[in-house]
Amino acid sequence: MTASAVPPVQNPLPSATALETIQTLRDVQGPMIAKGPIIRRPAVVAASERFDLDGRAVRRVQTLSEKYGRGPLMLNVPGRPMALVLDPDDVHRVLEAAPEPFAPAETLKREALSHFEPKVALISHGEERAQRRRLNEQALHSDHPVHRMAEAFLPVVREEAEALLAQTRADGGALAYQPFFEAWSRVVRRVVLGDSARDDTALTDLTEKLRAKANWAFLRPIDKDGRAELLDQVQAALDRAEPGSLAAFMGQQPQGPESEPAQQVPQWLFAFDPAGMATFRALALLVSHAERLAEARREIDEPQDSAADLPLLRATMLESLRLWPTTPMILRETTADVTFDHGVMPAGTSVLIFAPFFHRDERHLDFAHRYTPSLWDAPRTRDDWPLVPFSAGPGLCPGRNLVLLLTSQMLAEVIGQTDLTLESHTLDPARLPGLLNNFGLRFRLG
Ligand code: HEM
Repeated sequence: MTASAVPPVQNPLPSATALETIQTLRDVQGPMIAKGPIIRRPAVVAASERFDLDGRAVRRVQTLSEKYGRGPLMLNVPGRPMALVLDPDDVHRVLEAAPEPFAPAETLKREALSHFEPKVALISHGEERAQRRRLNEQALHSDHPVHRMAEAFLPVVREEAEALLAQTRADGGALAYQPFFEAWSRVVRRVVLGDSARDDTALTDLTEKLRAKANWAFLRPIDKDGRAELLDQVQAALDRAEPGSLAAFMGQQPQGPESEPAQQVPQWLFAFDPAGMATFRALALLVSHAERLAEARREIDEPQDSAADLPLLRATMLESLRLWPTTPMILRETTADVTFDHGVMPAGTSVLIFAPFFHRDERHLDFAHRYTPSLWDAPRTRDDWPLVPFSAGPGLCPGRNLVLLLTSQMLAEVIGQTDLTLESHTLDPARLPGLLNNFGLRFRLG
């Protein structure tokens, strides 16, 4: 063998010290797990806002990036290889290379989501994932700003928003999160399952109960009866296929033997919950930026060709999600050893992309802590700084356009019909907080 034929030495990636690992688990993962990764615990969210735990998490990762540069940085966690992504290019690289070698079906995520949807695309792999992902994309009409069923969906948003505002006025004019969430949940049940599910709060309660268990991942036993009950109810909605619902639209899409339609729907019901949180925060952004609010109202008053013509409101939703991501940690797992400039990441590593570190990095972004809807004027590409509230690459959220369609319409209904003030918070436009507690927001209708 000649010298040139000797394979290059494969160095391991830099590794955090034991103390740095503990600090990272305490400051980054700790608050996220305490807040509830699958369903939020309002008291912990309130405490996180109060003590700026989210800002502290970003500062912790900044400290690591100052020391270790581009990373990725292995965390020194016994029994579970974990790597923290520190470089913007690596965010794109990891997200683009799904599902091989960076699989979305990461171990902890699998443990958590198995509580209510063990065969959902997000924790599937190989051919099963391919078929389930395709069905999601088709049913959610992923690449289209306006879902094919928009004409059925938008009147639902209008009706429920009007009912919410009427009830709020009747109750004295204070708009808090709980009634907003209940109205939003009615929208979600009607859009996903059909009008007959409008008042089926028991179904939402059941999903919440299972999600509360999922917060504990493998530490809590799976409630198999509850899970079977949820999946039966979803299957019943798919069988009913009520006109104007996603359930009916899904039934019209081509399916493979591994598609498991009923197992995809709990993810939709689950993921519409953070969409409601983000909408309420977006409302706070608008109300705290008078010029933008006026601009948004002009946008609403203009005759619209389609629901896509609410660019400022869509961008406001994206800003709400950039500033306060509802999926702050995007997880992947390596299916093979992967070589980076600074070393090799072993197969079986959980790869952590902590979105707030990239979204709120004032060392590189002058807009880090300001509401900047113009960021979303053009589609963002892999040459841009990673702003990834909906992830990116082949694992990009297939519900993103539907979310933006329905939430921007909800915002339009609320701000178009009322004068609002924000009673609970005073937001400083020059430095928005690390977290905005949606549960504590309260508006007053004029
Ligand atoms: C604010 C609202 C939402 C946000 C911020 C969001 C964000 C995300 C993110 C970051 C991922 C990637 C997760 C990962 O890789 O672990 C994801 C995946 C997914 N989202 Fe959303 N999502 C939202 C709402 C929705 C809704 C309402 C639906 C369905 C109606 C949906 C359907 C999905 C599905 C099916 C996946 C899995 C995709 C796959 O397997 O590749 N999402 N979403």
